[in-house]
Amino acid sequence: MVMKLSASILSIQHDSAIKEKISKLLNSSINYLHLDIMDGNFVANKTWEYNEMVNLLPKNIKNLDVHLMVNDVKKYVYDFALLKPVYITFQLEAVNNPLEIINLIKEHDIKVGIAIKPNTPISFLNDYFALVDLVLVMSVEPGLGGQKFLDDSVKKIEELYSIREKNNYKYVIEVDGGINDRTVSYCSKCDIIVVGSFITNGNYEERIKQLKAK
Ligand code: DX5
Ligand code: ZN
Repeated sequence: MVMKLSASILSIQHDSAIKEKISKLLNSSINYLHLDIMDGNFVANKTWEYNEMVNLLPKNIKNLDVHLMVNDVKKYVYDFALLKPVYITFQLEAVNNPLEIINLIKEHDIKVGIAIKPNTPISFLNDYFALVDLVLVMSVEPGLGGQKFLDDSVKKIEELYSIREKNNYKYVIEVDGGINDRTVSYCSKCDIIVVGSFITNGNYEERIKQLKAK
């Protein structure tokens, strides 16, 4: 598997051993740790504020992939920039002025990701393709782990791939939600896959191997 693997810890949010399980993930062959930050407003679920997250992570962690599913995007950008993540990705649907958020993340020397929900067409991103480092296709409705991969996501991935090739854009394509050893084969044109419950519900190394074998 050429693509990179970003492991989501959403499904172990309430696990009493989450800190140890995060270290186990970080010692595995994943490329990024995917943090699903939810405010209980943009999505019904509430996950971690900055001060909770920082207590769960080793100091100076280098491979964070932060996914903001929040309404007050600016506040969370300022907070989570403190963790020096590789990416901060926000939901297009949560903001009035995506350009302002793109510039705010860039000012922190962090790579910018923009995410769209399953019902948001690719065309809504037209003004931002040239400006972002990552486009995240949500292959489930944001908010929960363990959901079923929405097959329509494949068309969006194909579209993003051909738009990038045609225009020589630099964004990487990430897909997030419902990815397992079967649905991973739909993601061959992606650069990064986000996998949560398929890994955290099983033996981590074994599940990671199964994904990489595809
Ligand atoms: C859903 C999150 C996803 C989710 C993926 O809102 O953005 O990252 O945790 O989990 P699985 O792989 O279990 O669908
Ligand atoms: Zn996510």
